[in-house]
Amino acid sequence: MSSIPPSIPPSQRRPQRIAVLPGDGTGKDVTAEAVKVLEAAAETWDLPLELVHFDWDADRYLATGETLPKGALDDFRENYSAVFIGAYGDPRVPDMKHAADILLGIRFGLDLYINLRPVKLYDARLCPLKDRTEKDVDMVIFRENTEGAYVNVGGNFKKGTADEIAIQDEIHTRKGVERIIRAAFEYAVNHGRREVLMADKSNVMRYGHDLWQRAFAEIAAEFPQIQSRHMFVDALTMQLVKHPESLDVIVTNNMFGDIITDLGAALQGGLGVAGSANLHPGQTSMFEPVHGSAPKYAGTGKADPIGAILSASLMLDYLGHGEAARTIEEAVARSMREGQTTPDLGGSLTTSQVGDLLARAVGRAVVAG
Ligand code: IPM
Ligand code: MN
Repeated sequence: MSSIPPSIPPSQRRPQRIAVLPGDGTGKDVTAEAVKVLEAAAETWDLPLELVHFDWDADRYLATGETLPKGALDDFRENYSAVFIGAYGDPRVPDMKHAADILLGIRFGLDLYINLRPVKLYDARLCPLKDRTEKDVDMVIFRENTEGAYVNVGGNFKKGTADEIAIQDEIHTRKGVERIIRAAFEYAVNHGRREVLMADKSNVMRYGHDLWQRAFAEIAAEFPQIQSRHMFVDALTMQLVKHPESLDVIVTNNMFGDIITDLGAALQGGLGVAGSANLHPGQTSMFEPVHGSAPKYAGTGKADPIGAILSASLMLDYLGHGEAARTIEEAVARSMREGQTTPDLGGSLTTSQVGDLLARAVGRAVVAG
């Protein structure tokens, strides 16, 4: 595996090749809709996108034993601008081996150290909190994406016996912690945000989380125009529910980021509507909805494609197509306000009807002007 970054950044490559990995279950359903919207955007703004589909799903894994093919990461790094993923997970693979190899393999292998997860309420009726409006829920969570508790360093001793010992280490590197904190501050500066809040558990995790504390204080000092604040993550979960309006940009480690972004998704209407970007600025990056593959809804037309479509919008923004990205986001917001949604949001449209509606809205965007 080479680790040399490509010489041409994704936004300047032509064509901008996108690897589309629908994955399993409803991942396939929502990806088909995101693709419709991407194709409509490509036509409207004449974008140099080239979508290449990969069938790396549970069926293929069960038939061949292969998860992430050898050489795939080098191919992505060198020949693709982005990777778009639907969702992974299949009941026939209870240990999620293919999901972990592919999803985490891409996050780690492409060194996508930023997992950017916006939490934005587009329609007040979708918020489970009382008396909250759109202006109360508008934050961006920066989840560290390449280390922490996700490194799977550890082992079992005397496995299967009454004396078993399991060790599961967390890894926090100075470089890894610094780069995600700096990314959060840079984002705050570039997007007119007022504050970056760092959440950890440094009152208990005295080594790794203490490193976060020190790095945060140092990097915050480089950005005097942005306020900085610290919270223990348990207190933050309470704040997310009680005072979401007080939160702006949040930065935290891999595991805490995983947990609080599900909570964040609930604040904006549920897992079906949350999108995410897995980024390494200047390099091939990956985009995926926050939700899983929900196998029992596969093919039923009930899956909400909005999380995937918002992820496609984040991808277009990353690839330098800001106007297309904003137009998709606005069309999504409008569809929610008008109740043109799947049943999870109270509407009566199917997965593909939502995709058609949004593709049409994007297709008309320039004409409607
Ligand atoms: C997510 C998911 C993944 C994670 C799983 C599927 C490995 O929950 O993207 O939030 O834990 O990161
Ligand atoms: Mn998660």
